[in-house]
Amino acid sequence: MSIKDKKNIIICICEDVSLEEIERVIEEGYTNLEEIKRSLRCGMGPCQGRTCLTLIARIVSSKTGRPMSQMKFPTVRPPIRPVPLAVFATSKLKNKLERPETESNKARAYSRASKRM
Ligand code: FES
Repeated sequence: MSIKDKKNIIICICEDVSLEEIERVIEEGYTNLEEIKRSLRCGMGPCQGRTCLTLIARIVSSKTGRPMSQMKFPTVRPPIRPVPLAVFATSKLKNKLERPETESNKARAYSRASKRM
């Protein structure tokens, strides 16, 4: 495979990182997924690495000979999947906040609170 081809093979589509760039940082000595993530930003896009990190791990594995079972994947932080803000805006929480304060609502809230004690 020529160098020109490797430039055109995009491994991280969110951050537009090519196979050539990943192989270059591996040759520079970055063989840990966390280091590669920090140097190229792959895994920091909207998919949070769900698309690219496994591919990058395989590239590192093939370049270094280290088995996939020894690859340490970066920490995943919530939300696990992208959540549109509209979901939060229309959630039950919003409905609770907008519920008018009536005597029956107060009684239900008091009843729930006293059951917890
Ligand atoms: S493809 Fe790499 S972060 Fe989404």
